[in-house]
Amino acid sequence: MVFSGAGKSRLEIEKAIELGVLAINVESESELFLIHEIAKNQKKEVSIHLRVNPNISVETNPYIATGLYQTKFGIADEAVSKVVEQLRGKSEIHLRGIACHIGSQITDLESFKLAASRMKTLALELKQSGHPISRVDMGGGLGIAYRSQEVAPAVEAYAQSVLPMFQGTSLQLILEPGRSIVGNAGGLLTQVLHIKKNRERHFTIVDAAMTDLIRPSLYEAYHEIIPVSTLDRDPVTTDIVGPVCETGDFLGLGRKITEPSSGELLWVQNAGAYGTTMSSHYNSRPKIAEVLVEGSQVHLICRRETVEDLWRQEI
Ligand SMILES: Cc1ncc(COP(=O)(O)O)c(C=O)c1O
Repeated sequence: MVFSGAGKSRLEIEKAIELGVLAINVESESELFLIHEIAKNQKKEVSIHLRVNPNISVETNPYIATGLYQTKFGIADEAVSKVVEQLRGKSEIHLRGIACHIGSQITDLESFKLAASRMKTLALELKQSGHPISRVDMGGGLGIAYRSQEVAPAVEAYAQSVLPMFQGTSLQLILEPGRSIVGNAGGLLTQVLHIKKNRERHFTIVDAAMTDLIRPSLYEAYHEIIPVSTLDRDPVTTDIVGPVCETGDFLGLGRKITEPSSGELLWVQNAGAYGTTMSSHYNSRPKIAEVLVEGSQVHLICRRETVEDLWRQEI
């Protein structure tokens, strides 16, 4: 396991070293110094990768574009040699590779190719100057199709676009697929609480909120929303909104669906990635249950929280 994160705490680094992770992806000089201090205290040797910011612009929501100098992520590619200098005399730290993660929900393979080619060049330069670099970690980023008309590259196409570059280099390529594995695997089932209309809008108020799936509120992300009932009814254009006291609490705006009624279920598609992981207790909302569907079998894998769960940690 590689330990990544935009700003690692002392506690996290101590634990990562104790657990003996494959490498810690270092995001800054400051992090490097802290890792060194902890490694010395623990009398341990630590493998690191330097997370590089290659200043590559990608076509995705700006909140999940992470490979530009304007973002907080990584060490600017032009500053890598300066950080590498800091390794001199730090015998507990071993530079084993370089890493990057240029963003998420990327469907254009050209951005990955450009990043991979820059990373390869940098890795080979570091190798040439005597550093035993053996890995290039390209992070995650591969997008999925959220809308029916969207096309996302297949995992094989992604692999084909970057793997050949590393052939004959002895560099090991690490990919961290997240969304591309689980995004399509899950959905969010929500119940309609109320329907209301005014002269401007039609609202479908549901029991799921931004606390359960924050992507629409945070990035204006699109999730297909489908009524579970197949009853033939007239279509309506409606804002599918949560019950939380925020205008930004919505799952989908201006959606044309068959007119739902209170008590009905709606299916919010592609919620397998960044649903539960980004969920919160905001507005004192207990977290929802998670169910695994395996063929015709249904397993409860996470029980619904109770109100008591919310105050369990209170002193
Ligand atoms: C370092 C790193 N690797 C992998 C991922 C997963 O990326 P994705 O969800 O795009 O697959 C992330 C997501 O933020 C990340 O920061």
